[in-house]
Amino acid sequence: MSKVAIVTGGSRGIGRGIVLGLAAQGWSVAVNYRGNAAAAQETAEMAAAVGGDTLIVQADIGTAADRERLVQETLSRFGHIDLLVNNAGMAPRVRMDLLQTTEESYNEVMDVNLKGPFFLTQRVANAMLESSATSSSVRPAIINIGSISAYTSSPNRGEYCISKAGMGMMTALFADRLAPHGINVYEVRPGIIETDMTSGVTEKYNKLIAEGLTPIRRWGHPEDVAGAVVALAEGAFPFSTGEIINVDGGFHMRRL
Ligand SMILES: NC(=O)c1ccc[n+]([C@@H]2O[C@H](COP(=O)([O-])OP(=O)(O)OC[C@H]3O[C@@H](n4cnc5c(N)ncnc54)[C@H](OP(=O)(O)O)[C@@H]3O)[C@@H](O)[C@H]2O)c1
Repeated sequence: MSKVAIVTGGSRGIGRGIVLGLAAQGWSVAVNYRGNAAAAQETAEMAAAVGGDTLIVQADIGTAADRERLVQETLSRFGHIDLLVNNAGMAPRVRMDLLQTTEESYNEVMDVNLKGPFFLTQRVANAMLESSATSSSVRPAIINIGSISAYTSSPNRGEYCISKAGMGMMTALFADRLAPHGINVYEVRPGIIETDMTSGVTEKYNKLIAEGLTPIRRWGHPEDVAGAVVALAEGAFPFSTGEIINVDGGFHMRRL
């Protein structure tokens, strides 16, 4: 029986890297996206080139009915789910100072980055518990893509930071609740990664990285994050759960 994963926001950026990493290891992957169908199609073609079987599912992770449809379509195509990667996420549409930001922006970012992943994890965990069908070669797992913003203050995108801090506790909660059922839960916490999300701040981060912001002086790439996700998904850490894997060039270290 094949190994089956859902990767939310799997169509571009870090999510695409994760889809391709899993596909190369023989996973069947539901590639979720919200608006850019062409990018999702391109990812599916790239996955097929390395032998991966994919299902493209348009769904807004912030919307309950869409999340349910994502799970249903995955189950009807592949029969079971071994892995959920909560990767879809968004920055505020407009970066606004903490003293000006709006409830509309706050609600949208929290819906997509925290509430959606919380209830999708709840839904998929229940499907994992109900299903007797799993891949024989991997244990079921859930991997959340967090951020250094969980503990790094950026007052011009506070709602993003709060959503990622919440994801840290979400990881601990589901890890605790699901451990007795043999489902490990992890958080992969990227630093500055070269994707569309960071394309608007290239110059700023080029300078900061060159000045030594990160001990490893380069941008991270989607493959850096995918490498950690694939290792976790393939079961390299069976006695670890609730664990945070920093993929940030060493940003998280305190230095003098
Ligand atoms: N880039 C970084 O430096 C960095 C650092 C730390 C953490 N992260 C986190 O890593 C994750 C991926 O980031 P990225 O840089 O790869 O972002 P990205 O390049 O902007 O790609 C975002 C992906 O998420 C999808 N998406 C966005 N909102 C969605 C929604 N409501 N429902 C379903 N899919 C949705 C997008 O689909 P469409 O194309 O259809 O919109 C796209 O596939 C995010 O959670 C982000 O917070 C990124």
